[in-house]
Amino acid sequence: MPLTRRDFLISGSMSLAAGAFSPFAVQAEKTELSEPADFKDWESVRREFELAPDYVHLALFFLASHPRPVRQAIDQYRKKIDANPFIAVDGALFEPTDENIPQQVCRAIASYIGGDPQDIALTQNTTTGLALLYHGLPLREGDEILTTTHDHYVHHESIRLATGRCGATWRKIPLFDSYNSISPDEIAERVRKAIGPKTRAVGVTWVHSSSGVRLPIARIAESVAEANRARDEKDRVLLIVDGVHGLGVEDPKITALGCDAFAAGTHKWMFGPRGTGFVWAKPFVWQKMRPVIPSFFSLEPYEAWAQEHAPQTPARAAWFSPGGFQAFEHYFALPAAVRFHQNIGPARITARIHELNRQLKEELARMPNTQLYTPRDENLSAGMVCFDVKGMKPEQVVKRLLDQRIVASTTPYRQSYARLACSVVNTPQEVDTVIRAIRDLG
Ligand SMILES: Cc1ncc(COP(=O)(O)O)c(C=O)c1O
Repeated sequence: MPLTRRDFLISGSMSLAAGAFSPFAVQAEKTELSEPADFKDWESVRREFELAPDYVHLALFFLASHPRPVRQAIDQYRKKIDANPFIAVDGALFEPTDENIPQQVCRAIASYIGGDPQDIALTQNTTTGLALLYHGLPLREGDEILTTTHDHYVHHESIRLATGRCGATWRKIPLFDSYNSISPDEIAERVRKAIGPKTRAVGVTWVHSSSGVRLPIARIAESVAEANRARDEKDRVLLIVDGVHGLGVEDPKITALGCDAFAAGTHKWMFGPRGTGFVWAKPFVWQKMRPVIPSFFSLEPYEAWAQEHAPQTPARAAWFSPGGFQAFEHYFALPAAVRFHQNIGPARITARIHELNRQLKEELARMPNTQLYTPRDENLSAGMVCFDVKGMKPEQVVKRLLDQRIVASTTPYRQSYARLACSVVNTPQEVDTVIRAIRDLG
């Protein structure tokens, strides 16, 4: 009898019996469904959260509070796993049928971002996704990765660690010099000029958590496409995007942005289960990459291992979903967060988040005691607002706001600012409260 992955991953005595329980996966999908609430007004959205009602929550992009459908889905999976861990996880994970839950999770994500579920790898957060991408690239000595001065620590570290392993280099460029004069044309031009003969990837961040600036990814993709026009396939430059603060805020069809690979956690603006995320990449990207962590989600590498040779087929997304056992109740419940967004309506969510943050920015821009850094231009901003109160350190601003039960944050970058982020749980009245509190700080 040929070895199957199931034989490998379960104890010998259980392996034959296990097949009898394969219908479990179907059952799991049915029980996960929760009744959609009526999202006609924003109060009904807010009621789905168990957020402390006596706080104004303006840092939910940091880590999600689970809305009711996500809590319910997690709880249903938790109960099943607690009742019978082997049966619950084995059937859901290893049955190569349509009822396989990781495949269902990929289908749910694809229904939201566009594209093919087969091009999605499931991760635990943005950090893991970026690390898998950069470490998976077939970099050689002398190759270069181009990135910017605006990205998050985990993005730069992923690049530094990956390039350091093979004698490749990396370089950071600023995409603008002042927050007052950001231009999509100039950003695209700077990227175009900075791509050199050795550049193999350009790494950027869709929405900068340092400043709230949203990059024109499609314009950057044009610059990368131009550089690729005269190149051999093997020297092709890839555009890699850290998209975590755009996902769940902007138009979710990220596969139309023009990038080659996109990593995001789903436990920030998506309000997905904490410890979940994904990477989407074009099939040719997965094919040229090398996996870093053994996966449980595709049979080919396992069968090749059993036959004592390397996989013979090109890599694909599922090979990059890190294997090993995980917090499956969270992992499996991710479709509930996608449905939550789809039930409210992605376009409504974008409009609401922009409307609230616009209100905040307009007021901050008018105040004599504040300096606003995030562009007021809706095309260059998303859900975050970064600012300073003159004469105060950002951490003092955050502390003074917290004294009034307003949850703000500081940006974790060399140049730190105070940061607020209105999401779908907030109201224009809360924005007024925050504005009054900031005015009184000066
Ligand atoms: C731009 C950016 N990228 C990546 C991360 C890390 O995200 P995760 O916790 O999903 O790994 C953060 C953290 O908030 C961030 O601001």
